[in-house]
Amino acid sequence: MNGLIDINILKQAAADVRAHFPDANPTAAFVLGSGWSDAIKVFNVKKEVSYAEITGFGTSHVVGHAGKLALAEIDGKEFLVWQGRKHFYEGLGWTAVALPAFISKSMGCSKFFASNAAGGTTYKPGDLMIIRDHINNMGCNVLQGPHHPELGARFPDMTYAYDPELRAVLRSAAAAVGVAVVEGVYLANSGPTYETPAEVKLANTIGADAVGMSTVPEVIIANAMGMKVAAISCITNYAAGMTGQPLTHTEVVETLDAAMGNIHKLLPEIIRRFA
Ligand code: HPA
Repeated sequence: MNGLIDINILKQAAADVRAHFPDANPTAAFVLGSGWSDAIKVFNVKKEVSYAEITGFGTSHVVGHAGKLALAEIDGKEFLVWQGRKHFYEGLGWTAVALPAFISKSMGCSKFFASNAAGGTTYKPGDLMIIRDHINNMGCNVLQGPHHPELGARFPDMTYAYDPELRAVLRSAAAAVGVAVVEGVYLANSGPTYETPAEVKLANTIGADAVGMSTVPEVIIANAMGMKVAAISCITNYAAGMTGQPLTHTEVVETLDAAMGNIHKLLPEIIRRFA
């Protein structure tokens, strides 16, 4: 396996999902990242399919990632909910990472929403940060390799990777339900190590408000394929070196659990306005 996108696997995966949801007509897709999957409880789920039944996902799981795709409904409109994602650091290659964005577009979605857990370099644990822009610091790009026109242009524009109108929708949704949000730049590293304090200092110096290990590759695919994108980070910890404490995945999961009340309030409002 060379890690590059296999367009045939993506197409087969899209066909698998269409076969599970033959009559589905979703307009928006939501990726629930680390710890966010609990938010599925607030939706009216019509049907679910396990990632294990979709070509290309493999079977491994990270704690806090459910590994299921739901077809859900709000106010009579359908949307997709991806409960968990595959990460570059898992070593499965880019195909598995690209699947949610590719399938969402193939199913007819024009809007793509991603969520994640991130370390704060300017914000504090518990803050919900609308991503205004990103820095791809993974050292590689999901679209490297042969050009597949099905994924968009050879050199996709990223000027408005996070759609300004959708960001405004996120802000007004948050205001409507009384949940405070901040806005900032997300920097993605490859992981799976957390950053060193020196790397956090670098991230902050070059303009990052949060650091994480996901989201950027799928946002690149979604933009290249012509979807409008929005994303929110839940700041789960101060990034490395900002306090004397070492970082743990447990801390990440616990902070997300504590933020879940706000997420449960906010997500349905976002979905109502997106779907
Ligand atoms: N760094 C990278 N990824 C993360 C972090 C972090 O501090 N917290 C949650 N995901």
